[in-house]
Amino acid sequence: MTKSDNITDIIDHVLYSQEDIQAMCKRLGKQLTADYAGKNPLVVGVLKGAVFFMTDLVREMDVVMQNDFMDVSSYGDGFESSGKVRLDIDIQADVKGRDVLLVEDIVDTGHTLKFMEDLLTKRGAKSVKCCALLNKTARRVDNVTVDYYGAMVKNEFVVGYGLDYLNKYRNIPFIGVLKQEVIDSNSNK
Ligand code: XMP
Ligand code: MG
Repeated sequence: MTKSDNITDIIDHVLYSQEDIQAMCKRLGKQLTADYAGKNPLVVGVLKGAVFFMTDLVREMDVVMQNDFMDVSSYGDGFESSGKVRLDIDIQADVKGRDVLLVEDIVDTGHTLKFMEDLLTKRGAKSVKCCALLNKTARRVDNVTVDYYGAMVKNEFVVGYGLDYLNKYRNIPFIGVLKQEVIDSNSNK
């Protein structure tokens, strides 16, 4: 750990401010309002990272919808994708014939999104689309489409606004790049 007790001290620099994030939610909400009008979509947030984004995004959508959550994990050691995706918490809703919108914090390799898309398609969803806050394409492995996203990010590890490192720092209100020394100090353990 770093010496400081302040969580914002683990940030190298701010990538997106609270105002930037708010603008992204407004823009995406407007687009989704138009695209999902009259469809009664099932909007599924992916725990835990997307909770923060999900609550802001759906309040920008003027559409009758239902909400659900699922938890899947692929990041065994907190940094590198293991490639194996596990369903930890399932949605309660029946997706048969439904237009499903998956809300993700970030799409990186695409393993997680591919797993969820395949699962929901197999269950008979009419459509499965994804709205991610961030789209990190540098390490993309799976052939997935991020239909809507707030911003592209480089191959840097970002935290805040739901995004975590070792399940910490989700409550930082902005998105920042994690200091390399934080990663280094944990990789020695
Ligand atoms: P995949 O590789 O399956 O990854 O597309 C999706 C999940 O990986 C996590 N992830 C990150 N989390 N900062 C984070 O806090 C990052 O820069 C980052 N890159 C990937 C995230 O949990 C996402 O759901
Ligand atoms: Mg995640």
